[in-house]
Amino acid sequence: MNYLIGVDLGTSGTKTVLFDTEGTVISSATVEYPMYQPKNGWAEQAPEDWWDATMRTTKKVIEDSGVDSKDIKGMGISGQMHGLVMLDENGSVLRRSIIWCDQRTARECEEITERVGAKRLIEITANPALPGFTASKILWVRNHEPEIYAKCRHILLPKDYVRYMLTGEFATEVSDASGMQLLDIPNRCWSDEVLEKLDIDKSMLAKVYESPEITGYITEEAAKLTGLAAGTPVVGGAGDNAAAAVGTGVVEEGKAFTTIGTSGVVFAHSDKVTIDPQGRVHTFCSAVPGCWTVMSCTLAAGLSLKWFRDNFFLEEMQTAKGMGVDPYYLMDRQAERAPIGANRLVYLPYLMGERSPKLDSDCRGVFFGLSAMHTKYDMLRAVMEGVIYSQRECLDILRGMGVVSSEMLACGGGGSSPMWRQMMADVYNLPVKTVVSKEGPALGVAILAGVGAGIYPSVAEACRKVVKTNPAQAPIPENTGRYEEFYRVYCGLYPQLKDCYKALAAL
Ligand code: XUL
Repeated sequence: MNYLIGVDLGTSGTKTVLFDTEGTVISSATVEYPMYQPKNGWAEQAPEDWWDATMRTTKKVIEDSGVDSKDIKGMGISGQMHGLVMLDENGSVLRRSIIWCDQRTARECEEITERVGAKRLIEITANPALPGFTASKILWVRNHEPEIYAKCRHILLPKDYVRYMLTGEFATEVSDASGMQLLDIPNRCWSDEVLEKLDIDKSMLAKVYESPEITGYITEEAAKLTGLAAGTPVVGGAGDNAAAAVGTGVVEEGKAFTTIGTSGVVFAHSDKVTIDPQGRVHTFCSAVPGCWTVMSCTLAAGLSLKWFRDNFFLEEMQTAKGMGVDPYYLMDRQAERAPIGANRLVYLPYLMGERSPKLDSDCRGVFFGLSAMHTKYDMLRAVMEGVIYSQRECLDILRGMGVVSSEMLACGGGGSSPMWRQMMADVYNLPVKTVVSKEGPALGVAILAGVGAGIYPSVAEACRKVVKTNPAQAPIPENTGRYEEFYRVYCGLYPQLKDCYKALAAL
């Protein structure tokens, strides 16, 4: 029997899943690690933690399954996008990775726009200069830590660092490389023009592959550390959202999903390059060769709920532990205690500043309308509603670009919450479906590994075989109307707070 392995290198932890070729989960393991926030708006992680988590989870899934590692025909890696990993000439990590939700690079974004030109930058990289993206992080290190930059010989994305440790190869693939702001998105290759204008040496960048292509093979050393067989092929894999698209079958025109993971993403597949001229959402290469994607990214979706849980639901977390249930399951039940609109309380989810659709590193979270009558249950519900309103704002932009059909898939941790899914159906006024497999990104890259290993003929055919959907959850018309009223209030808040955020950030 043949098996495939998918690694999902997320922000809260790395999850590794072993699948059979029908997409059935054979075994799964997760190891968590910290996110460091040395300053307000900064976010870093240790690449060594990612590698350690990959080794431990891979070893565990193989041991738990009892599968002979020689029957694992391929591995795919999915990862949080945009993070900057810098290695010296010996391949050693030079500093902690500055990750996707870090907001320190507003000045470097100005520098990029000046050097490349705003219009040309969008034409080539399909995005305006963004603090979340890798290029501005590279410039930040060059401007602020020149001694580290001088030693840097290799620049990798998070999952590509893990690939390097597994295979010894410096490789990436188009979907994740799209988030570096150095890739020519229409032509799917590094942009010599952007690299030259930013004075970044191309030899520091990894070789670019299409996502299902084989990029290298497990080394003897990595085999000892992971339990994989030496020589197992490792395919390009994909950035986490592109991987989730494959794992949920969003690989054809008109299909779309919303993920609520740490970030919140509304994602649509497209057979052609479609760019928002205002740069409010991103156009990236798809993991499906020859296709593209349009997606939004809000920075604190699941993170808002995690922040709320860790600060205000400590007792409930203990109760959940005692009951053997997920704390988020209890939180769902408790959010139901408050009515739609949380007794007139509105939450803005800008804990890490915001990317889509506001593009503002200075904005921060808000509870608007807080009253002495509110309880933490109202606040919890307001947090969940605010996160969905922020996705709705992004969806409206994608709708305007004509890339979303009449149905939405829900995935990520938030997608498994029935409460959040119903809220999504009501606020979007769309039927919301889930896929049977809960392993979106890990399944997506396992499928890509299967295509690379010749088990499936193409990504689309593999998805047809492996990805199954559950019945849709329909919007409830009276809820839709009620949410719409609060959504209007939500939309009115940011424009009025914009200058206040700037003033606060300047203090
Ligand atoms: C996408 C983005 C996030 C990260 C982390 O542009 O920044 O979705 O990939 O999940």
